[in-house]
Amino acid sequence: MAEGKPHTGAIDPVLVIIPTYNERENLTPLLERLHAALPQVHALVVDDGSPDGTGEVADELAAADSRVHVLHRTQKAGLGAAYITGFRWGIDRGYATLVEMDADGSHAPEDLPRVLAALADADLVIGSRYVPGGAVVNWPRHRQLLSRVANLYSQLALGVRVNDITAGFRAYRRPVLEKLALDEVTSQGYCFQIDLTWRTVQAGFDVLEVPITFTERESGESKMSGSIVGEAALKVAQWGLRHRAEQLRTLLRGLRSSRSRVRR
Ligand code: GDD
Ligand code: MN
Repeated sequence: MAEGKPHTGAIDPVLVIIPTYNERENLTPLLERLHAALPQVHALVVDDGSPDGTGEVADELAAADSRVHVLHRTQKAGLGAAYITGFRWGIDRGYATLVEMDADGSHAPEDLPRVLAALADADLVIGSRYVPGGAVVNWPRHRQLLSRVANLYSQLALGVRVNDITAGFRAYRRPVLEKLALDEVTSQGYCFQIDLTWRTVQAGFDVLEVPITFTERESGESKMSGSIVGEAALKVAQWGLRHRAEQLRTLLRGLRSSRSRVRR
């Protein structure tokens, strides 16, 4: 959104997109908490054919509650692809706000009202672990370290001042997602979060971080893997280099045009 322009427009209706892969035990309590905190929001579960039957649990929940919707994809194709499918579904159905939230309880639905309220002042609100008031609970040292390093690396490479650029708890105003070229997004793991933040910032939208507490899951397993880390490391380096090359070109162009004339 252009500078100085107020962030007008209703944030309702809200769609909370929840990607799932083997989250059978987590889904029902999460949706209960979500609707206790925010009775009016709709949820869209995007399941990638979970072998543990998460998709069937989601179907049962949807059959019993008109606020719950489900999309079934045939194979595990990454968090990024699941969210893009969910965004398109929500945009086509006229939702004004599209929220990303993990299924495993790491993102507290009780924090969501504050995240949504902050959309009055921004186009993208990130539920951030790394601003004052934010926290991480029960993460082993190696996960904390990975997350810190990934954030620092991305900030330095891209020159973006977002403290929690890999965060997966966030709310987008619909025009942001309509403007971004979602067809071009191929990032799959947490790189997807960096990718979309980067595109949002580059498109000139306002990003705001609000503190949240991230609590490690109690059941099921994380899908974090070496290839997910590798994807982010490689892509962020590529984007960073391209960005720095563009900055250099702009700088050199400026220098050439401002060079004073010299008479010998
Ligand atoms: N549909 C689908 N397909 N869902 C997936 C896939 C997939 O291939 N991979 C993961 N998910 C879902 C999980 O079921 C869960 O609901 C959510 O995406 C997050 O996955 P986790 O595996 O629990 O991620 P994490 O806890 O290790 O990572 C957290 O930290 C990252 C780095 O800060 C998450 O909050 C990420 O969003 C965040 O980027
Ligand atoms: Mn998790």
